[in-house]
Amino acid sequence: MATQTKMPVVPITELEQSAFCQTEEDLESKSLIEEFAVGVKWQRIPKKYLGLSPKLLAGRIQSAKKLLGQKVVILGHHYQRDEVIQFADYTGDSFKLSEYAASQTDAEHIIFCGVHFMAETADILTDNSQNVILPNMTAGCSMADMAITDDVLDCWDDLNSVLKRQIVTPITYMNSTADIKSLCGENDGVVCTSSNAKKTFEWALKKQGKILFLPDQHLGRNTASRMGVSNDEMIVWDPFKPLGGNSEEDINKSKIILWKGHCSVHTRFTLKQINSARDKHNDVKVIVHPECTPDVVDNADLYGSTEFIINEVVNAKPGSTWAIGTEINLVNRLAKENQDKNIFCLDSIVCPCATMYRIHPAYLLWMLENLVENNPTNVVKVASKTKENARKALDLMLSLS
Ligand code: 13P
Ligand code: SF4
Repeated sequence: MATQTKMPVVPITELEQSAFCQTEEDLESKSLIEEFAVGVKWQRIPKKYLGLSPKLLAGRIQSAKKLLGQKVVILGHHYQRDEVIQFADYTGDSFKLSEYAASQTDAEHIIFCGVHFMAETADILTDNSQNVILPNMTAGCSMADMAITDDVLDCWDDLNSVLKRQIVTPITYMNSTADIKSLCGENDGVVCTSSNAKKTFEWALKKQGKILFLPDQHLGRNTASRMGVSNDEMIVWDPFKPLGGNSEEDINKSKIILWKGHCSVHTRFTLKQINSARDKHNDVKVIVHPECTPDVVDNADLYGSTEFIINEVVNAKPGSTWAIGTEINLVNRLAKENQDKNIFCLDSIVCPCATMYRIHPAYLLWMLENLVENNPTNVVKVASKTKENARKALDLMLSLS
């Protein structure tokens, strides 16, 4: 069995970030060799999978899945390509998928079509005897990579020495490594997702102390400002500067300390795009994800997690018009499945999440065929001490939701 505790970080290059951006057509998967031609560097895969067309891949995925039956459950995040999501037994946002993972007690193998932090979370929430498999080990998350364990530990030490005995509750967004979740669990903190960030902030603020929120400064600010916390009470912690770029006085005065991280997909949306959508369609509803910058969230009609966006749009009146600020695979899918509404992406040049996109159907097939041969590959295993502490923070999140 090929087990990996750590992920090989393959950073997104500008080339990869723009390689799959497009203006009009739907994103359609090509054979892996054609996708590699733009110069991306993904996990090595046996040559026999390189030239297979999406149609051929789909047929073989179906057969392998049938052979494996109930031994395998496939989970798919909403940002996955259509050619992958069609094989998911369960689809969801980060929160829903973590609940599904926790409830899959019978499956021997859980194939997680999402990114590395999601597979780690699934491993933390499942039994040690179950395998969580990430089809392409280079499918990371640029936001999670912005909170390096050593930098976060330095910040934690600095905060404790400046703040002495004051309570600081660490809250980490699901989009972070297992090490960061473990640090939160070890220090009476919690994990949150975009669906339940508010509940975790309310819980932490009841303790009368401060919150250190990692790694998405925008989700943190958007959540806290809706709870009445003013911008003066929030500081940003830049890991590249001494004391995060703050004075001791600033740290003492603050209520929320926001880690300087962001999502490269959601920060592409702008106020200018919202204004242009409103100019073109006077009845448009703008709905965005809370990883967008505060000016975008403040000026949208609605904001919320991926699951929230889906529910609002699916249940909207026929004929309504929606400009959506989230990942393009989901927006395209919503447009295709809700043809009685006018649905488009806020950004006219649309880019998929480049790391989610690394899960090509050829990788899914590779994982399934290896399981047929009793050779689980790309098994994500979190070290036991990390798992124990991270689980504390995750269980608390599930109990608060
Ligand atoms: P949710 O799945 O919680 O909406 O988060 C979106 C995201 O960016 C996942 O990586
Ligand atoms: Fe990470 Fe943003 Fe991609 Fe989500 S959408 S996996 S936060 S880069």
